[in-house]
Amino acid sequence: MSNPIDGPHLDRRSLLGVGGATLLAAASPVPVRAASSPTRKSFPHGFRWGASTAGYQIEGNQTNADLWLMEQVQPSAYAERSGDACDSYHRYEQDIALLKAIGLNSYRFSVEWSRIEPVRGEFSHAELDHYRRMIAALRKAGIDPVVTLFHVAAPRWFAEAGGWLNPESPDLFARYCDKVARELGDGMAFACTINEPQVGLTFRAFSPGYFKAKDEIQARAHAEAARRSGTTQYVTMDHPDIVGMTPQLLSAHHKGFAAIKAARPNLPTGVTLNLVDFEPGNAESSHLAMREKAYGAWMDAAKQSGDFVGVQTYRQIPIPGAGAKMPPLPEMPFTDPKAMGEMIKQPSALRNMVEYAHQRTGKPVFVTENGLETDDDRRRAWYIPQVLAGLHQAIESGLPVIGYMHWSLIDNFEWLQGYKPHFGLASVDRTTFERKLKPSAAVYGRIARSGRI
Ligand code: BGC
Repeated sequence: MSNPIDGPHLDRRSLLGVGGATLLAAASPVPVRAASSPTRKSFPHGFRWGASTAGYQIEGNQTNADLWLMEQVQPSAYAERSGDACDSYHRYEQDIALLKAIGLNSYRFSVEWSRIEPVRGEFSHAELDHYRRMIAALRKAGIDPVVTLFHVAAPRWFAEAGGWLNPESPDLFARYCDKVARELGDGMAFACTINEPQVGLTFRAFSPGYFKAKDEIQARAHAEAARRSGTTQYVTMDHPDIVGMTPQLLSAHHKGFAAIKAARPNLPTGVTLNLVDFEPGNAESSHLAMREKAYGAWMDAAKQSGDFVGVQTYRQIPIPGAGAKMPPLPEMPFTDPKAMGEMIKQPSALRNMVEYAHQRTGKPVFVTENGLETDDDRRRAWYIPQVLAGLHQAIESGLPVIGYMHWSLIDNFEWLQGYKPHFGLASVDRTTFERKLKPSAAVYGRIARSGRI
C-alpha cells in the first residue's frame, strides 16, 4: 500500500515541466474551455488539479477545538483520539513537497477557527501568521491555496455557547470570516465557507436507522462535555439536533460569504456540499424527491450566495420505488463482493452530481472532494482515471467545472472512525510521520501534469 512512487514519473525534468504548462493565473474561477478531440480528451486550460485535507484531520493536537473534548469524554462516539494526527501543523512543508511531487497545482486545506480565535473576540496574530506562512509556501511552490474556513471543528468556546444552535452563531462565524479574508485573503485562490453543513441531514434522509444508535451516544457524550465544561450546553457539528442547527448554518453561509466578498471582492467563494448520488432504483423511484429533501435548501443557498458550488461525492445509492427490488450491483475490480459499502462507490456518481449541482444552481462546479477509502491502492489507481473520464464527459457536454481536488492528500484522522480508513494518495507513519506516496499518486499525477486522460 505504501510503496513510494518510483522511476520516470517523478524525475526532475517532468516536475519542472509542470511549471509553465499547468500553473494557473486565478483571474476567472471558470477555466477556459480548450479545443479537444475525442481521442485526446484534454481538460480545459486552467483546470485546477489538486488534493484536499482538513486541519483537524491532519494538523494534530488541536486541544482548543470543540471536538478534542468529545474524544476524551465517556461515552465517546470516537473510535480513537486524534492526538498528533499527521503533525501537519509543523510538517506542512512536507505536504507541499508531496503536492509538487505528484504534479498538482492546487491544494485545498482548512484554516482552523479554534487556533485563529482561541478566545471569543480575541484573534491570534501568531496563528494567523502560521497560515500566512503556509499560504506563502504554497504560492512559492506554484500551488494555488483553496482555503476552507470551517471544516467540522469549532473553537471550544463556540460549542460552550451552544454551537450552531446559538442564534448568534452566524454573526460569530461572519466576524471570523471577515478577519481571515482581510488577513489571509490576498494569498488565497478560492475560499470555501462551511464544509458539508448538510451531511448529517443527508445521511439521516436515507439511513435513519444508522443514526439512531449513534445519536444516543452523541447525546450522552455532549451532555458529559457540557458537565466537564461547567456549561449548560455543548454543541458540536456531531450534535444529534442537525435539524435545529440548519437555519443557523444556512444563515452563517450567507453572512460568511458576504463578509469574505466585502473584504476581498475578487476572491471566488462558495459552499462545499456532500452529495450522495441518489439514482433511480427502478421506474417508480423517488430519487428526485430524495435529492430535493437532502439538498434542496443548500442548493438554493449556493445559488443565492456563491461564485461556485463545491461538490463532494463519494457514494451512489439506488433508491427503489415502493415494493421494488434493488437492482443488481455493478462490477468493480479489486473489490470484495461481500462489501456492499464499497461496491456502491461508483465513478459515475461524481459526474451525475456535478450535472445535478450545476443544473440546480446555475453555478460553476468545483469538485472540492472525491476519493476512495481502501487499503488496496490498486483500487484507487483504477478509480481515479474512471472518475476523471466521467468528469471529462461532463465538461465536454458544456458544464463549467473549475477543478478536481482528490480526497485526500494523506491518510488522516477519519473523524469517528479514527485512523483505520485510508483515503490518502500518500501514507503517513503514525510515529515518525514519514509520508510515502502510493502508486495511485503516480496515476493521478500523470493525468494532472498532462491535463489529459
Ligand atoms: C469530509 C472529510 C472526510 C471525507 C471522507 C468528507 O465527508 O469532508 O472530512 O474525511 O468525507 O470520509
